[in-house]
Amino acid sequence: MKQENILEVKNLKVKFPVAGGILLRKVAEVKAVDGVSLELRRGETLGLVGESGCGKSTIGKAVINILKFSSPDVDISGEVWLKTEEGEVNLLSLSRNEMRKYRGQIQMIFQDPYSSLNSRMTVGQIIEEPLLYHTKMNKDERNERVAWLLEKVGLQAEQSKRYPHEFSGGQRQRIGIARALSTNPKIIIADEPVSALDVSIQAQVINLMQELQKEFDLSIVFIAHDLSVVEHISSRIAVMYLGNIAESGPGSDIYHKPIHPYSKALLSAVPLPNPKLKNKERIILTGDVPTPMNKPSGCGFRTRCPIAKPECADSVPVLELKLPDHYAACPYVSGN
Ligand SMILES: Nc1ncnc2c1ncn2[C@@H]1O[C@H](COP(=O)(O)OP(=O)(O)O)[C@@H](O)[C@H]1O
Ligand code: SF4
Ligand SMILES: [Mg+2]
Repeated sequence: MKQENILEVKNLKVKFPVAGGILLRKVAEVKAVDGVSLELRRGETLGLVGESGCGKSTIGKAVINILKFSSPDVDISGEVWLKTEEGEVNLLSLSRNEMRKYRGQIQMIFQDPYSSLNSRMTVGQIIEEPLLYHTKMNKDERNERVAWLLEKVGLQAEQSKRYPHEFSGGQRQRIGIARALSTNPKIIIADEPVSALDVSIQAQVINLMQELQKEFDLSIVFIAHDLSVVEHISSRIAVMYLGNIAESGPGSDIYHKPIHPYSKALLSAVPLPNPKLKNKERIILTGDVPTPMNKPSGCGFRTRCPIAKPECADSVPVLELKLPDHYAACPYVSGN
């Protein structure tokens, strides 16, 4: 693993079975993630962007290994290397028991602060739960940590006795963040943490995450369906389309000089147009995203790509270096 990386995902593939007929046998499969490689550098925020259904949440769940243990019939392959104090470990190769040791180091924040918090538990119990599983803290130590965490996320220690429904969406997401931070993780996978919140609240939650990132020395994968959300906070951005990475590179490059036809289209759809792109043509994508059950052969984007050629059906394009640290999966574009 490269020195600066804390996490490396290699050729991750996740296929969900589709059952049919009266016997509910497997009749097809959904290639939700179709050979994704990613690197997360220590202390950075990596933005992972793409339209709904392209496989972002599945990557998050596969990386923290909940997919493997909660759904045994899902076909997962590839490697997820985590750098730990004792060396590197491929999380995907671990048993449920072996995974326990590492689970506290990598936590997830979920999109929906309404459904992701157990409504029958108090906020204190919700934040305490990971401490019960992943630490040896006694009751007093756990209570103290819950109170401390609540204050860290801008809530009050006294609120630990309340239930989730007593809080607003933004406050609930703060509770989700406190829960994720409870075990002192090194990595946070934030799955669209602000998509369900009012625009006025989104910036507050993003600012909080940035403050906590510095204080806790976190490396973050920040998932979003909209490039404008990740632009300001990501050192690097990876753009996904239909289970593959279309382009990845430094955040400002992706935003100002996108190379892949899909990223160009995604950017031209950003509501507040980037002034540097103002004079460029707006690219309107036609047609829906094909389903990952019927993925086009070759380049997954070819059915919507404005510059597609017949050869694009022949083979799946690989990520090629086009500019320094900037890759795109299309042989027909260049970084100039
Ligand atoms: N448990 C599941 N069973 C079957 N298909 C699933 C399951 N979870 C996700 N999918 C499918 O996998 C694809 C990727 O989903 P997801 O990772 O949730 O995308 P995103 O987070 O980018 O919106 C979608 O087509 C979705 O319908
Ligand atoms: S490989 Fe072909 S279809 Fe895919 S992005 Fe490039 S030009 Fe478009
Ligand atoms: Mg999702």
